[in-house]
Amino acid sequence: MFSFKHRLPDDFFKGACDIHCHLLPGVDDGFATAEKSLHALEVLEKRGVSKMILTPHFMKDYPDNDRNSITAKFETFKAEAAKVSKIELRLAAEYMLDARFMEHFKQGFLFLDKDNTHVLCETSYMMYEHGITEMIYEIMLEGLQPVIAHPERYEYANNANYARWKDKNYKFQLNLLSLAGVYGEAAEAKAHYLLKEGFYNYIGSDMHGLGNFERFLPELKLKTKEIDQLSHMLENNKKLFG
Ligand SMILES: [Fe+2]
Repeated sequence: MFSFKHRLPDDFFKGACDIHCHLLPGVDDGFATAEKSLHALEVLEKRGVSKMILTPHFMKDYPDNDRNSITAKFETFKAEAAKVSKIELRLAAEYMLDARFMEHFKQGFLFLDKDNTHVLCETSYMMYEHGITEMIYEIMLEGLQPVIAHPERYEYANNANYARWKDKNYKFQLNLLSLAGVYGEAAEAKAHYLLKEGFYNYIGSDMHGLGNFERFLPELKLKTKEIDQLSHMLENNKKLFG
């Protein structure tokens, strides 16, 4: 059946909360300078965004990123940001399920939510690494809730993997621009599939800079039902922020 697709409505981001972004400057492959991050805040505020959870990478590739150093950098940035924007900021992290994951767990995670239960986790894009399921199991035993960042981007993951993760009660976070093909055709197709299956709980930009957002967002066209689903996920985001 012929199905119309539409651009996101102008007020789509009104009051929105982004739960995944690399806006904290100079700490990973995200925004390189505070000036660029502050400019992004101004642009996003004009779009209507009102809350952002900053989620720098905690992984082997960034050994200097730990709870103390990142928290100090966040407090400095937050003070600067308050001078140019009313967007409320919170610090969390995106934890790679690698050899350092359990170390971060012992030191205390930076959580997505105010109740300190939701942990944003990612895996390698290329291959399934041994021990992922066991690490997630351990944190769930402690009452924590894994939120899988951009499941659509994992090349090794197939529909059976996704169904198993849902059975285990993992929550899923969509990268908005996966739907625009920013990460390739396979990720775009998987994003539409997971959306159709109703597997996503949350939505994030995973913004590393403003470039993709400004280039791809105006071109993004979705079915009305998909836009409604994204709006529902934005509501879930807000509840997470509290
Ligand atoms: Fe990310």
